[in-house]
Amino acid sequence: MLSVQDLVVTYGRVEAVRGVSFDAQPGSLITLVGANGAGKSSVINAVSGIIRPRSGTILFEGQDITRWPAHKLVAQGLVQVPEGRQVLGTLTIHENLQLGGWHTGDSAAISEVYDRFPVLAERRELPAGALSGGEQQMLAIGRALVARPRLILLDEPSMGLAPKIVDEVFSVIQEIRASGTTVVLIEQNARRALRAADHGYVLASGEIAHQGPAAELLADDRVVQAYLGV
Ligand SMILES: Nc1ncnc2c1ncn2[C@@H]1O[C@H](COP(=O)(O)OP(=O)(O)OP(=O)(O)O)[C@@H](O)[C@H]1O
Ligand SMILES: [Mg+2]
Repeated sequence: MLSVQDLVVTYGRVEAVRGVSFDAQPGSLITLVGANGAGKSSVINAVSGIIRPRSGTILFEGQDITRWPAHKLVAQGLVQVPEGRQVLGTLTIHENLQLGGWHTGDSAAISEVYDRFPVLAERRELPAGALSGGEQQMLAIGRALVARPRLILLDEPSMGLAPKIVDEVFSVIQEIRASGTTVVLIEQNARRALRAADHGYVLASGEIAHQGPAAELLADDRVVQAYLGV
């Protein structure tokens, strides 16, 4: 589904991603975990066309998409839920969802999002800025789902949310995966993400430090001690 090979991302002289390779099989849920500044967002921003990598190759469904712009990737079914949610606070919830389907005008997809998140349906005419942090995260995920992604990339969807809301976000992610969509999840909440994932990659200083089936990483003392806390 997705194959990233030798990805390098630089910002001026800062080498944020230094030769990262990973794969996601169709229908799988993989996670990239790591500390602040490890390069997680840089990796998925390069995959989803938000930034341009210095070098490396990105294949999506066998097609070379390296350096494709984000809007072209969205139309192909590769959609990112960005870090910090990025909902447009002065637009209504409905308008935010319409933006997710700008290229298709798919109103049935918006109805499906309302079925999944009744709280958004009830408040559809309110400005998105009036929603709580958790509701804004649901809106950000809903906006991505309107594009009917085959691959969805989520950048720290649980950030700053109360534990109960984090549970909701994780159950939505599991539902998305159960519906057949491939998921790439980035999290600082590494233990939680690895419990949800099939396969995990631990990123440290722009490189993959460990990788493997998520259950094996959770059982690996080196990984637990260095990255998951005691
Ligand atoms: N626009 C930018 N200009 C310069 N340096 C940047 C820029 N964006 C990121 N960096 C640097 O690149 C490195 C990787 O950052 P990145 O945001 O990819 O990490 P991250 O793992 O997503 O961190 P976080 O968990 O804090 O979101 C960091 O050293 C960061 O300071
Ligand atoms: Mg980040």
